[in-house]
Amino acid sequence: MKATKTLLGVAIGALLMGSVSAMAETVKVGIIGPFSGPFALQGKNFQAGVEAYMALNGKSVEGNDIEVIYRDLPTANPAQARALAQELVVKDKVQYLGGVYFTPDAMAITPLLKQANTPLVIFNAATSAIMNTSPLVARTSFTTAQTTTPLGQVAFDDGVKMAITVVSDYGPGIDAENAFKKAFEAAGGEVVETIRMPMNTTDFSPIMQRVKDSGAGGLFAFLPSGPPTLGFVKAYNETGLKQGNIKFFAPGDLTQESDLPALGEAAEGLRTSFHYSVSHDSPENTKFVEAAGKAIGNPEQLSFPAVGAYDGMHLIYKMIEAADGKQDAQKAIDAVKGLSWTSPRGPVTIDPETRHITQNIYLREVAKGPDGKYYNKKIKTFPNQKDPGLATQ
Ligand code: PHB
Repeated sequence: MKATKTLLGVAIGALLMGSVSAMAETVKVGIIGPFSGPFALQGKNFQAGVEAYMALNGKSVEGNDIEVIYRDLPTANPAQARALAQELVVKDKVQYLGGVYFTPDAMAITPLLKQANTPLVIFNAATSAIMNTSPLVARTSFTTAQTTTPLGQVAFDDGVKMAITVVSDYGPGIDAENAFKKAFEAAGGEVVETIRMPMNTTDFSPIMQRVKDSGAGGLFAFLPSGPPTLGFVKAYNETGLKQGNIKFFAPGDLTQESDLPALGEAAEGLRTSFHYSVSHDSPENTKFVEAAGKAIGNPEQLSFPAVGAYDGMHLIYKMIEAADGKQDAQKAIDAVKGLSWTSPRGPVTIDPETRHITQNIYLREVAKGPDGKYYNKKIKTFPNQKDPGLATQ
């Protein structure tokens, strides 16, 4: 009798499991990023963040298997961004879109989301206004207004009365310029000149000459992380500005950890403000760095896009759970509004109004560690910074 009962139990259990797996879906997630070309290392960091999250949290959510499809978008190219997103939705039938390194690409994808019934989780693109272009977009990176704003007071307190700003002439550069000017002038300083460079500028010596000639005591700069930032920081050093009296202020895009081995001494002492440092001291970050370091192969290549991707996958997992594996973009987005968790970067919340991430911004300085390697050493924390966003414009 007992044996029969047990057998029956097993049979019912098997039946139930059968019906659960019949209902479960394979949920596809399309990730767009620069996986080849000059910014390939940034895309490699997206992938490392995604793989680290899946290694630590499993490859399924409540019985729904997750399949990630990567699509390569090497540089800012809105037409190609739109075509890739469309193809992922229509042909590959992804239920979620993620990634996107450059602002112009994000701006080209958001108008498609409503009709596609597909949320987009931005892992990097950092212009404030992106969030106003669709109610179906959320962001786990930062904005340049958010990372820059604390620097205005920092520069003034450091004795800088006159500053010059140098930025790449597109969304995140203009946001950074506006944010710095607003915060620095509120503190009592004056921005004496603003320079906007074409995105593809590679010769920075004429710019450094203008910085010297401006009479400013401080330089604020933003360029998108990758070859442009490496070239800019080298030029700041090689043209003698670093050794001169012109102090350097920038968001951490300019001292990303994957650039530090190549910059070496040229970066030592540079102060930047940012939402994430690979050296951040917390149990969550230790776990993340270990998993993402393994995924990327060479841990010296790890930098901030990996944490944007890791937290972006956290949102996508929460969305899949809320929508129960079904395609319901509004339900998915609503489920992450107000969501708080401890990221490898520190405590974070998705602002329910803007769908952008609220987080600590850290002031850091490039220093040499006991192992002889350079890292972003934390100096100060500005807690719970929302995106000051459009208010800085
Ligand atoms: C952007 O295009 O929004 C962007 C790209 C690289 C960065 C920051 C912002 O480092």
